[in-house]
Amino acid sequence: MSEILTIADLKDLARRKVPKMFFDYADSGAWTESTYRANEEDFGKIKFRQRVLVDMSNRSLESTMIGQKVAMPVALAPTGLTGMQHADGEMLAAQAAEEFGVPFTLSTMSICSIEDVASVTKKPFWFQLYVLRDKDFVFNLIDRAKAAKCSALVLTLDLQILGQRHKDIRNGLSAPPKMTLANIIDLASKPRWCLGIAGTKRRTFRNIVGHAKGVGDVSSLSSWTTEQFDPQLSWKDVAWIKERWGGKLILKGILDKEDALMAAETGADAIVVSNHGGRQLDGAASSISVLEEIADAVGDRIEVHMDGGIRSGQDVLKALCLGAKGTYIGRPFLYGLGAMGKAGVTKALEIIRKEMDITLALCGKRLVTDMGKDQLRR
Ligand SMILES: Cc1cc2nc3c(=O)[nH]c(=O)nc-3n(C[C@H](O)[C@H](O)[C@H](O)COP(=O)(O)O)c2cc1C
Repeated sequence: MSEILTIADLKDLARRKVPKMFFDYADSGAWTESTYRANEEDFGKIKFRQRVLVDMSNRSLESTMIGQKVAMPVALAPTGLTGMQHADGEMLAAQAAEEFGVPFTLSTMSICSIEDVASVTKKPFWFQLYVLRDKDFVFNLIDRAKAAKCSALVLTLDLQILGQRHKDIRNGLSAPPKMTLANIIDLASKPRWCLGIAGTKRRTFRNIVGHAKGVGDVSSLSSWTTEQFDPQLSWKDVAWIKERWGGKLILKGILDKEDALMAAETGADAIVVSNHGGRQLDGAASSISVLEEIADAVGDRIEVHMDGGIRSGQDVLKALCLGAKGTYIGRPFLYGLGAMGKAGVTKALEIIRKEMDITLALCGKRLVTDMGKDQLRR
């Protein structure tokens, strides 16, 4: 490929570099993938107003998310198995985000542990929590995130039962991959990936193995994980999690305004309007299509963030116009990571920054924080 100009270019490159089961794990949604597709497609229906002859010098993309300064309001979303897109993936992505000046969110289901990421970063990162049945393990995770000085806890609300993604079942997804004939043939065409993974000790869920009771090695891990998501999680649990954590709390996975209003009552600092990247309830609305309604409903009672389907800086600006104070990208940074490691994550962020900057100017604005409903054609 001559030059990488878009997130789609990074996706094409990642497809060639990353083993099929992990590329597919990123590029998949639940069941028919209709919500996964709608997340991206619905951005295309929103149009900007083009304005001319306004001073567009001295532009700035700087903003804040939950009171923290960000170079642009685009955080890296928590994604499981990121260290399988590229060796030590979470550590590299966290470093790229830190250097760029945007938040990195580490998933509970990461390959590199909280401590691994803390050991290679200087600024605080965010930690995403899944509430599991083993409450001692959950307490311990919260305490470990505190000890690592994480500056926000992102509590995911939309995965108490796992949505079915057909590709993962067909590919026999596991970390590390099992040595079946199909996998061996696939891995033979991905030598750089293999070398990277062979050169690291981080090949399975390091937040879990060695920390959760009954999970001493990888063989017991997959059954433990699938049985562990707690189907009884309720609004009441948010209170004890908030108290034990004691810091900034973000509730992720809100797609309905009634839930958003309940979230605002909890005293959390922000919600993320999200359908888990179309990976959970297939047939749910796209995130961008419900954002305005939710933002209007909660007003200034709680900060509103969104994710799902952002593939360009224009998408970020559209989300800001419709009421988001901040956004997250999942697949765009994963494709960058799979394509080119840390440099690829930086590239994904640079692509989005440049698109945001030019669009801001052509909309007749200088500050990203000035983007609002007025900048859209309605
Ligand atoms: C491969 C993959 C793994 C994910 N793992 C998690 C996870 O462990 N925890 C979580 O809260 N969300 C997870 N998500 C959802 C993302 O945080 C985010 O909501 C979603 O990716 C946003 O959509 P986008 O990928 O279109 O940007 C995952 C998403 C992907 C693509």
